[in-house]
Amino acid sequence: MQEILEQLEQHREEARLGGGRKRIEAQHAKGKLTARERLDVLLDEGSFEEYDTYKTHRCTDFGMGEQQIPGDGVVTGWGTINGRPAYVFSQDFTVFGGSLSETHAEKICKVMDLAMQNGVPIIGLNDSGGARIQEGVASLGGYAEVFWRNAQASGVIPQISVIMGPCAGGAVYSPAMTDFIFMVKDTSYMFVTGPDVVKTVTNEIVTAEELGGASTHTRKSSVADGAYENDVETLLEVRRLFDLLPASHRDKPPAIPTADPADRLEPSLDTLVPANANQPYNMHEVVTKVADEGSFFEIQKDHAKNILTGFIRLNGSTVGVVANQPMVLAGCLDIDSSKKAGRFVRFCDAFNIPILTFVDVPGFLPGTSQEYGGIIKHGAKLLFAYAQATVPKVTVITRKAYGGAYDVMASKHIRADVNYAWPTAQIAVMGAKGATEILYRSELGDPEKIAARTKEYEDRFANPFIAAQRGFIDEVIMPHSTRRRVARAFELLKGKQVDGPAKKHDNIPL
Ligand code: HXC
Repeated sequence: MQEILEQLEQHREEARLGGGRKRIEAQHAKGKLTARERLDVLLDEGSFEEYDTYKTHRCTDFGMGEQQIPGDGVVTGWGTINGRPAYVFSQDFTVFGGSLSETHAEKICKVMDLAMQNGVPIIGLNDSGGARIQEGVASLGGYAEVFWRNAQASGVIPQISVIMGPCAGGAVYSPAMTDFIFMVKDTSYMFVTGPDVVKTVTNEIVTAEELGGASTHTRKSSVADGAYENDVETLLEVRRLFDLLPASHRDKPPAIPTADPADRLEPSLDTLVPANANQPYNMHEVVTKVADEGSFFEIQKDHAKNILTGFIRLNGSTVGVVANQPMVLAGCLDIDSSKKAGRFVRFCDAFNIPILTFVDVPGFLPGTSQEYGGIIKHGAKLLFAYAQATVPKVTVITRKAYGGAYDVMASKHIRADVNYAWPTAQIAVMGAKGATEILYRSELGDPEKIAARTKEYEDRFANPFIAAQRGFIDEVIMPHSTRRRVARAFELLKGKQVDGPAKKHDNIPL
């Protein structure tokens, strides 16, 4: 028996070495952890249970028959994060560059199937050169099996992807179909084809960092939702995000007791909005002051900064926040911010996460670049997402709510449940100056008359009371009581149930 146990330990030891000590050292030299070391950071200590440790590839072409490596370049199984289970796979770059063979795909598919069946999230740590070139169509088929499962699992369980090395081909398309992508700065890349192929095909010379580094994908392309300094920091942030998410669409978001009282007043909010309507203030401050202390977890914080999206805890429970940011582009809606917020709203709705919206929006960004880029279609994404969302929706208008953007930003008309306004709110078709210039064009030569007209328009609409008279605003609230009001509203809305019309699925403008 002793001998058998020793043999098992020997097999395990062999599997743990992956592509061998030299390649492990190379991985460390790049500042990267190995596939197993990463799981040690991600999961609670001692909680990881590995599956398919000894599975090897079947390919015999190109000398592959003699190069069987137990585990075949991916470590799979499950473990817990702060006590809650997660299925995981972690690609091992030391084994054929983490490339995906048919059997490597089978291992990932096994944990994906279990995750869906058991209503448990899946987290993929990607460090892979894509489809294993030696295997040809067998590896392409393997990837397609993973892609198919990504689509099936979407809206059923949260899927989180972490990009932890150079990822190409299928190694980026599977993450692209998941809910969140995190990258590691300076050591991770995502591209459909790398710089060499780009040069051959288009003559364009570009570095891997410029083409698909963390900065490119968190700022420009918005493919990634966040980037962090190194492997450890990235994995710890994944744990933080995981704590905020429900295990599946069948569950409510997790709640943890908080020491921050739900009725905490925040007097500083009473003086946050400047008297001059054209002067910005930081909406981030509103979010953090309303949220349970230190709980704001921002999603896509470096992209489309004119809108904030992220999760907070309110009285211990997870709430999704969408908020116009007057510090950037005056908080207007444009293509990027509409797409960013639209996708976030849909994630929240799919996973029973209530949505809190803070509104200070002067309208949609005008101009040819926006129109040619399809702002009509992209703005409609956010409108569609809000209109379709059946989770509890609470809206607070802090200042401007102008034009179509008023309708879009979780207005009563598209079925927000509770709509509050601060006394500083201005709800109108447009700003007073613009409105006067259109309505009284013939008087434009007379500045005095125009000033009087502008004041008249301002007096009428630069307040929340016209909307409140019609019931479009449920109450005008003191800014300092926002946290208490919003927390109470969500508490009451916990029992909300809405059934939409029967259909196969919607046709959101893509
Ligand atoms: C087999 C691969 C591999 C692959 C890397 N390796 N990618 N083996 N199949 N796809 C192997 C290398 O041969 C090398 O083996 C080891 O992994 C490390 O790779 P290096 O090139 O030395 O590392 P690095 O310089 O860091 O470059 C990493 C890389 C590069 C950027 C990922 O290897 C690369 O460009 N690989 C090919 C990417 C690609 O085109 N994949 C196919 C995509 S098609 P040794 O033995 O020397 O250590 C695809 C289809 C899916 O995925 C469908 C999408 C819709």
